[in-house]
Amino acid sequence: MCGIVTAIATNNVVPVLLEGLRKLEYRGYDSAGLAVLSGSLSRLRAAGRVAELAALADARQLSANIGIAHTRWATHGVPSERNAHPHISGGLAVVHNGIIENFEAIKSSLEARGYVFESETDTEAIAHLVHSKLETHPDLFEAVRLATNELVGAYAIGVLAEADPFRAIVARRGSPLLLGIGEQGMYAASDTAALLQVTRKVVYLEDGDLAELRLDGYRVVRPDGEAVEREVHLSSLSADAVELGQFRHYMQKEIFEQPQALGNTLEMIAGGGAISPQHFGARAAEIFDGVRRVLVLACGTSYHAGLVARYWLESVAKIPTTVEIASEYRYRESVPEADTLVVVISQSGETADTLAALKHAKTLGMARTLAICNVPESAIVRESALRFITRAGPEIGVASTKAFTTQLAALALLTLALAKLNGRLPEAEEQRHLTALRHLPVAVQKVLELEPEIEKWAQRFASKEHALFLGRGRHWPIAMEGALKLKEISYIHAEAYAAGELKHGPLALVDKDMPVIAVSPADELLEKLKSNLQEVRARGGELYVFADAGSEIPESEGVHILHMPEHYGMLSPVLHVIPLQLLSYHAALVKGTDVDKPRNLAKSVTVE
Ligand code: G6P
Repeated sequence: MCGIVTAIATNNVVPVLLEGLRKLEYRGYDSAGLAVLSGSLSRLRAAGRVAELAALADARQLSANIGIAHTRWATHGVPSERNAHPHISGGLAVVHNGIIENFEAIKSSLEARGYVFESETDTEAIAHLVHSKLETHPDLFEAVRLATNELVGAYAIGVLAEADPFRAIVARRGSPLLLGIGEQGMYAASDTAALLQVTRKVVYLEDGDLAELRLDGYRVVRPDGEAVEREVHLSSLSADAVELGQFRHYMQKEIFEQPQALGNTLEMIAGGGAISPQHFGARAAEIFDGVRRVLVLACGTSYHAGLVARYWLESVAKIPTTVEIASEYRYRESVPEADTLVVVISQSGETADTLAALKHAKTLGMARTLAICNVPESAIVRESALRFITRAGPEIGVASTKAFTTQLAALALLTLALAKLNGRLPEAEEQRHLTALRHLPVAVQKVLELEPEIEKWAQRFASKEHALFLGRGRHWPIAMEGALKLKEISYIHAEAYAAGELKHGPLALVDKDMPVIAVSPADELLEKLKSNLQEVRARGGELYVFADAGSEIPESEGVHILHMPEHYGMLSPVLHVIPLQLLSYHAALVKGTDVDKPRNLAKSVTVE
């Protein structure tokens, strides 16, 4: 959701800015722009893709040693060239990611002073505010510091000024921003992927930090102006990790990376490794001790991972578990209990609601917090007492796939670690679970081989307007995830139900035009599910059943069966989500939608 790139270098930065924006495209955006200084300020904006902006830059043969660039995901004002960033005030240009909550008040006071607003954005208020500060504080860095101290809300910004052409200023609060130290200059961006083209040396800015980027270095200060040192990290990401390679889409690449992502995430138990609280950090044994309940907070796909974990935590570790949508939890009056382990799940570690829900739980006195996250230095990880970093690698497709299955792997380990601490995991059971976890990458690989059959199903699906997903028990959240995937990328309206609820409403929708997808593992609920499927057939509904070998659901007219491998016990949800990911991917391909960047959606939702 919005992306920023800033660069000052000895060579032309325009290609670096554009390539950085391309690498940030996955975050979700609807317009793009850049501003560079080369004698005077030049600004280019496009109400569309980065490719259009690049074409404009080419046509103008733009070249400069300093610049800022932006992909915008509309919040204040429609997606349009006029609202695209950078916004300008005098000779000063600003790009911004986030939402300024007090922008109306700032705007009114600036208008009263004669500033004229050309866009509907909150960002333009930042540009004029910094400009107004320059009247009394001619130093640009100081003017930005004073201006940001008046902002309420979330921001990551980049600022350039014609009158001060040898530095760029950046600042952040709430929205992500990191610095890159390159051979030919200094850079800043919303995430590492944008900077791998020039450097792997990065500095993560903390909330409230302001930084000045110069050709010969940088400095960071706090909001009161006090200088601070921030550690330099060497990113372990390789530029290849964010390349498409042989695949047509990132989503496809990421679906097929799942065996490796799971293997990497579960590396600690490879070979002879046992289940241990240590997997969650050095202090985990102490923090887990006395935990009587678990509260999971998350959004979107990560929330579905939490829902699966509830079944595991209650059945295996016998720990009462609640799973809540972060945006609900943060605003509702709840009853805190100190012996709760708060587990926040987030691919990006940036999701505004999940971060706020975590902070809210802490203010309620729940200090035992664990982040399950795919981005090591993210805000959510830094805010949590314990962390488990899934090693899915960068996930670029907006629809989350490998992040989900690696979250499930982490949650399975958590379940087993808590069960072991509570004396509920006999040695033989532990070994059985360890064997299943170690074998998981191979089992997933086998499911991926079903792709050609799923592709055929997708052909029939793509013409449908609605679909119903059914599942029971720990596969109900998998049905929910399947429905979410389908609507996200193919725009087919899809809903998921616990199959037992069918006759309490959704059955009324079933007819020959409503495909019903059933997640049907050969588990203890199979017989119940079979009865639900009969109810669908009796109403003329067409069934698409993902059954385990041995489920014994006969194929017949209107009942299509796809046989998965043997039933995989507790971890079966990890296998059953794979065909649903593939089904939505192929349905989207047939429909010709923008698979990796579906309309209106963003990868990292850094605003409420
Ligand atoms: C967005 C993404 C989803 C993701 C959700 C939560 O909506 O499009 O794919 O599941 O945010 O994101 P998180 O990074 O917190 O897992």
